[in-house]
Amino acid sequence: KKTVIVSSPGKLIIGGEHAVVYGRRALVTSIGMRLYMQLTEEEQTNESTSPLLKVSFQDTNQQHLIDLSNIQNSYPIEIQGILFVYNRFKSFVSDRSQLNIQVHSEIPIGAGLGSSAAFSVCLVGCFYLLYHKTLNREDINELSYKVECIFHGTPSGIDNTISTYGQSLVYCRAVKKHINFRLSNLAIIDTGIPKSTKRMVELVRLFVESNQQEGERILNDVERCVDSMIEHSEQIGQLFQENQQLLKCLGVSTLEIDNIIEILAKKNILAKITGAGGGGCLIALTSCFTKDQILDLLQDNHIKSIAFVECGVEGLRE
Ligand code: MEV
Repeated sequence: KKTVIVSSPGKLIIGGEHAVVYGRRALVTSIGMRLYMQLTEEEQTNESTSPLLKVSFQDTNQQHLIDLSNIQNSYPIEIQGILFVYNRFKSFVSDRSQLNIQVHSEIPIGAGLGSSAAFSVCLVGCFYLLYHKTLNREDINELSYKVECIFHGTPSGIDNTISTYGQSLVYCRAVKKHINFRLSNLAIIDTGIPKSTKRMVELVRLFVESNQQEGERILNDVERCVDSMIEHSEQIGQLFQENQQLLKCLGVSTLEIDNIIEILAKKNILAKITGAGGGGCLIALTSCFTKDQILDLLQDNHIKSIAFVECGVEGLRE
C-alpha cells in the first residue's frame, strides 16, 4: 500500500481578473485556506481483474466508486478531471489496484477563491508524487492547467499557477513574476450568491467581441490599474474602486454586489469583486472594522461569511 498527501492554497485576485484572459497583467495572491488530498494505491482483496477508483469528498460526504476498465462519460465534472489525470498515469497502475482519493477543502466551493484550481493542482500533485516521487512544479502546473480547461473552458491559467507556486504573482499569458506583495486588513466577504466562472468568462467574451473598441479600452484600463496597484500599494483601496468600475463595465457585477460595495464605501471600506464575479466573493480593505461590525453594516444583504485571511502563503506542498 502506497500513500501520498498533498495540499495547495486558494487564491485572491487583487486586480485584473477577466482582463487576464485577454493577455493583460493581473495581480494575485495565495491565501491561508488550503485543499488537502490523499491518494492511496492498494491491492484489491477479491479476485478482480480491473482497477478500481474510489473518490471521497469528505466535506459533502459524497463517494464515487468507478471501475477503471469500464469508464462511462456521464460522471460529474470533478470525476472527469480525475479520470483525465488517471489516463496519463494508467501505465503505472496494475489491474489489481484500487486507487483511493480523499478530498478535504477549507476553501469554499464556487466562491471565486480558487477551490477548483487547488483541486486540479493537488490531483496532479498526488499522481506525480506517487508515481514519479517528485513534485516538479513546472510539470504539475502545466498538466493542472489542462484539468482547469475541463472545468472552465478557456481559463487564463492564473488560478492553477498561484495554487502551484504560492506567494504573490504578477501573471500574464502563462508568464509569472514573483513579487513581494502583502496586504494586511484584507477581508473576504462571501456574498453567498452562487456563480459559474465558465459562464462569466463567456459573458465577458460576448461583450468584448460585440464591442471591440470599447472592450479593448476597458481591458487596457484594467491593466493600467493593476500596474498602479503594484507601484502604489498605498493607493490600493482607491484602485480597488477603479478596478470594480471597470469590472462593472465588463458586465460581471450585479445589483446586489453594487449595493454592498456602496454601503461599505460610505464607511470608507473600499471593496471590489475578486475572481469571476456574478456573485462569489468581494475583497475589502479595512483597518478599523471588525468582522462583526462589517456583518452588522451588511445585515440586510444576506452575507454568507466574512473572513480575514493571511496572504502570500506556500504553494503546493507535501
Ligand atoms: C477566475 O479566478 C479568474 C478569471 O479571470 C478567469 C481566468 O483568469 O481564467 C475570471
